Parts: sequence; C-alpha cells; structure tokens
Amino acid sequence: MPIIYHENHRLFEIRTARASYLFGVNDAGTLQHLYWGEPIHAEEAAELLKSRSHSSFDAAVDRETEEYGGWGGASYAEPGLKATFADGVRDVRLIYCGYTIEGADEDGEELAVHLEDAQYALRVELRYKPIHRHDLIERRAILRNGETSPVRIEQVMAALWSVGRLPDYRLTHVTGRWAGEYQLRSAPLTEGKKVLESRRGFTGPHANPWFALDDGSASETAGRVWFGALAWSGNWKLALERTTFGGIRIAGGVNDFDGAFALAEGETYASPVFVGGFAAGGFGDMSRKLHRYQREEIQPTRAPRKVLYNSWEATEFAVNVRDQLALAERAAKLGVERYVVDDGWFGERHSDRAGLGDWHVNAEKFPNGLEELIGAVKEQGMEFGLWVEPESVNPDSELFRRHPDWIYRFPTRDGTQLRNQYLLNLGKPEVKAFVLAFMTELLSNHDISFIKWDMNRTVTEPGGGESGADETASVWIRHVEHLYEIWAELRARFPHVEFETCAGGGARIDLGILRYADQAWISDNTDARDRLSIQEGFTYAYSPSVMMCWVTEAPNGFNGRSLPLSYRFHSAMMGGLGIGADIGRWSAEEMEAAARYVGVYKEIRHLIAEGDQYRLASLRESNIAAYQYVDADGGEAVVFAFLQAQSFGGTERRLRLRGLVPDALYEVRGDDGSPGFVRHGSTLMHLGVPLALRGDDVSWLLRVKRVDATAAN
Ligand code: GLA
Repeated sequence: MPIIYHENHRLFEIRTARASYLFGVNDAGTLQHLYWGEPIHAEEAAELLKSRSHSSFDAAVDRETEEYGGWGGASYAEPGLKATFADGVRDVRLIYCGYTIEGADEDGEELAVHLEDAQYALRVELRYKPIHRHDLIERRAILRNGETSPVRIEQVMAALWSVGRLPDYRLTHVTGRWAGEYQLRSAPLTEGKKVLESRRGFTGPHANPWFALDDGSASETAGRVWFGALAWSGNWKLALERTTFGGIRIAGGVNDFDGAFALAEGETYASPVFVGGFAAGGFGDMSRKLHRYQREEIQPTRAPRKVLYNSWEATEFAVNVRDQLALAERAAKLGVERYVVDDGWFGERHSDRAGLGDWHVNAEKFPNGLEELIGAVKEQGMEFGLWVEPESVNPDSELFRRHPDWIYRFPTRDGTQLRNQYLLNLGKPEVKAFVLAFMTELLSNHDISFIKWDMNRTVTEPGGGESGADETASVWIRHVEHLYEIWAELRARFPHVEFETCAGGGARIDLGILRYADQAWISDNTDARDRLSIQEGFTYAYSPSVMMCWVTEAPNGFNGRSLPLSYRFHSAMMGGLGIGADIGRWSAEEMEAAARYVGVYKEIRHLIAEGDQYRLASLRESNIAAYQYVDADGGEAVVFAFLQAQSFGGTERRLRLRGLVPDALYEVRGDDGSPGFVRHGSTLMHLGVPLALRGDDVSWLLRVKRVDATAAN
C-alpha cells in the first residue's frame, strides 16, 4: 500500500521503498506539503499541517509550500496554475474536493487529488504515481474546463515540489552548448528565483530539464539529495524559488513564456510527467535510481545497444554507393552490427544548402537504389540504418517549392534560416501526415532496422503564417505532441525498427523523448577526452544504456587532439559503442586493435546496459577519471580509468571500487595483457586497486569477476 490517506488528519502519505512523501489539507483548505525524505511515521507530521501568517505582507506563509496552487488570493510564489476566465477574472482559487486511488499493488497504484476553483468549473486533478522500488514519484496535473466558455491558461506546471527546511540549498544542474553539452554546475541558492528553461522549441543543449538539490554537503557517495526530471521535449521551465521564510519550491512544466492557450469548453489538458525522487546516499545513489527507472519504466527496449558504424565523419555529404560499400566491408571486419548512412543520401543533398525535405534516394549516388548497399550490409551480417531530419526543410528543395506555407512563419516577417533551413510546422495536421507518410514509405520499401532522427535548428517565428489569425501560442505544445504521436505510430507500425534521438548532437534528450527512442546521440563532439565530461554530466540524469559514443579520428577535429586508439575506445565503451572514423584509412594494426576492442565490448556490454554505474573519480576533481559498472548481484564489474597528465614522477594511486560483495573473491585483470590477481571484494573496495597508469592521456580497462565457490554455483 504505497498510498495511504489518513482521514483523521486529512493527510496523504506516499510511501516508496526508502522514502516518505507527505502532504495534507490544512485549516485554511490549502493543500500543504509537509515532508519528503527518509520514511517516518506519517501521522506524527500532522503537527506541521496548519496555515501560517506573518503579517499583512505575508498573510499566507503556508502557501509558499502549497502542494499545488493557483495564482490568486495572497499567494506570490511561482504558481502551478495561472488563468483568466471568460469574464476577465484572473484569480484562481483551488479548493480541495476529494481524492481517488486507482490500481492496487506496489507497481500500479496512482493517487488523484481533485481540486476545483471556488466559483468556476475549472478542475485540476493532481496525479501521483509512486514508482515504489526506485523511490520516485511520477507527478502530473490534468486540467478540465467545465465552464461553458473558454478559459485562457497562462501557466500550468506539471508539479510543484517542496523540500523541507534545510540550512542551505545547493542546486546541481547541467548547462552547455552545441558540442559541449551536459556540463555540470553546482551553486548555492539564495533567496529569489533561479530559472532553468528552454524557449527554443526543443529540450536544448543549453540546459536540461533535470535538477538535484541538497544542503551543500552531499557528495557522490553520501548525503541527502532531492531531484526531479521533466518528461518534455519542447519549451520547458524549472523555477527554483527560495523564499524569505526558508522554504524552497521547484515548479516545473511546459514553459509559460509565449505559452498561453485557450482551453475550450469541456476540453482537457494533461501536463507532461515530472518525476521526482529522494536519495539518501548522495549523487551516485540518485543517478542509479534514475538509471534503473529509465531502464525499467521508460526505455522502449532493454537489449544492449548494437555496435554501430556511422559514415558521417568519414564522408559528410559526399555519400556514394562505392565508398559506402567499401566502408561497410571494413566495418564488418571490425565486428560492427549496424551500418548507418548519415546525412547526404537523399534528394539534392550535396551540402547543407539543399535537399532537406526531399526524402527520396538520390539516383546519382545510388544508381541501383539503396538496395545494393542494404543487400551488401546484410550479407555481411549487419543491420542497415539511415539518418533523417523530418522536421526541417531547405528553401532549395522540392518540398519547400510545393509547400512554402508549411514552415513556422509570421505573415509580415521573413523566416530566419538556420543552417540554411526552416522548420516545418509539425503542429499542422497536413505536415504531420506528410512526415508519417514518407517515413512509412521509407521503412516499408527498404529493409531498414534503425533510424537516427535529427533536428538541426531551433524554432524561430513560431507562427502558422496566416495573417490576422489569433494564433494560439500552443503551437509550441502541438509540435511536441505531434512528434510523440508520429514516433509512437512508427514504433507500432515497425516494431523491429530502433530509433535514436539526435538534435545537432544531444539537444533533444529528456524523459519524454526517451519513451520513444532506444538510444541517444549525446554530442557531436567526439573528442574522447571532452567526451568524459559530457558523458559524466549526462549520467547524472540519464542512463548510460542509451548513451551513444563513437570512436573517431586522431587528431580529432574539435580540439586537434590526438588520443591513442585505446583511450578512444575506452571512452566510447562506457555507453553504446559506435565507430565514426574514416576506417578506410585505418592501418592493419589499427583494424586489428579495433576489432579486439569491439570483441571486449561485446563481452562487457551487458554491464553497461543493465548494470549499476559508479562514478569513482572525476576530472572535475583531479587528473583521474574512473567509472565502474557492476551487475545487480555484484558478480561482475568493469572499470574504466583515465589519467589526464602525469607530473613530478607521480605516486602510486589506488582506485577504490564499489558495489562488490565484501567477502567474495574476485579476479581482476586488465585488457592490456598484464597479469591478473585475486582479491576479496572488501580489499578492492577499501584498500583499492593499484592504478597502472603513467603518462599523459592514458587509459585502462579493468575486468573484475567473482571467482569463489558461490559464484561458480
Ligand atoms: C547533426 C548530427 C550529426 C550529423 C549531422 C548531419 O549535426 O548531430 O551527427 O548527423 O547533423 O548533417
């Protein structure tokens, strides 16, 4: 029974494996948040359930921690709901009017708390779905307009989270930009508001809808951390507000900026899911909860990622069947399982200036159609995959010449071109139908097992192009809803096809798109050292099981840095392994070494896909980065370690492992041919493993396997 209503105190208790979440209805009828943290006896928190006033200037202090509230009355904190009724009233007073519990067991129970405005038939249903074993709660808000006229919705958050009073608050989040995504930041929150958001039409590389909050003392391995992630791939907002009375509230949902829309009579709006959780064991504990949740509840498939080859960095737009056949032959020799042709195979796509929108195979590049290549790829035991960017159009394309009115545009303005392209208004039913139709044709006519779905520009001039029309700003919402519907439909029509989310690298990754995408391209930056920090930041919120990483050329184009092949492989083996180098130029020795790494990867990838990840050391703190992946019962692990630069002769370093069985015996062995040794789990975790790293930019892969009698049984 994870959800209990304590009638005598009007108190709701949501219980997960290692956390309690409590709120109730106070004497003023306000739905008040009470507690979130380690399990406690719920009824003993009832003493907190009371309205509080400080002065006429702060007449309703309890509303700063309102479980969900409208903008109305004496409430000034970031609201859950802001609306204007048809008669011009702009005051929302949500009154508690009951609850229902659906489902029966630990995995299926869901609480709906019903609120309604005091005068108007505007109803809000707050939904809470505990994900018991992961200590998470999925929340969302559902609005229903029972009025006989439309209500203008100016802000509707998926959830408001409050964290009980801490002496201090520290926010951890990610920031970045193209080719530099998922950079971690941590900073204290003083009184006021900190907003993380996207106004660009997609999730964006500059921020990601995930937060972690602690009192400033939590570490990777210890301390209390509260966190949440919003499942939305369009404009989003997380507002973290620390009040002068010491409370903190995190409001999250679709961004209200330019986001007002009319909710018609009888209409319903359901917010995206905002999942929140509590971890008592530091940031590592937090990430592992999120990873398991994604693997078990979100990801459409759970199998380890296939080793792929992608020809983008090798050929860019100069795609032709002869070169592709040669690359495919080389890829097969490396043990690649999925061969992917990137941009440049269609229409008049010889550069980024033309062809987007014309999704037919270029006959000059493939005189015998795609089948010649697909046949060869399959004959060599690989699957075939293809790149598409369905939401975009180049002005120089047949599609744009036929449908210039399909793009986002305001009637009196020229549209802004970014990367020489416009964005299609996917909210239009005819555009949605077009995308679904050409994708269906593509996947029906060719033996394609994988689609990399890209989006290479932000939204600008978000209008439908019609003049005078009261263009409701919900174009922002419709784009995302239609995108999700298209992906859902394609997955239903082609269940054997896997999908990758990509947006100029990692600009559209969130728990919304990850319900449809099997894997994610997290950055166009393939420099294996930069990748360590991008990948590390990514894993704070997202699972390594979906994180695609390629081995590319040395020197790498981004920084001009030359890293050894071993380093490039080790860095890329920490997620879904891909190869994106011009392997036509690799020497016999490089080919042989690469094939060996691919072989090792296939032996350990079940740990990447299903294991628990421990971040052992970070380049943010020292010149060593190390990450470990362990299976559920601590029977097997793999460790990747990287030394950035050695100086002053160096001293012997030891790396303490985690997640092993203390009394079990493990064999530890590198992939560099050095002799292995046997130690107890306790020794490996507390005394540590001597790190055999010397030099600059060197790396080590360590395999740890239980070898005692219990393991053999
Ligand atoms: C984006 C992607 C790249 C590649 C190019 C092709 O930048 O992130 O991986 O597919 O587009 O134009």
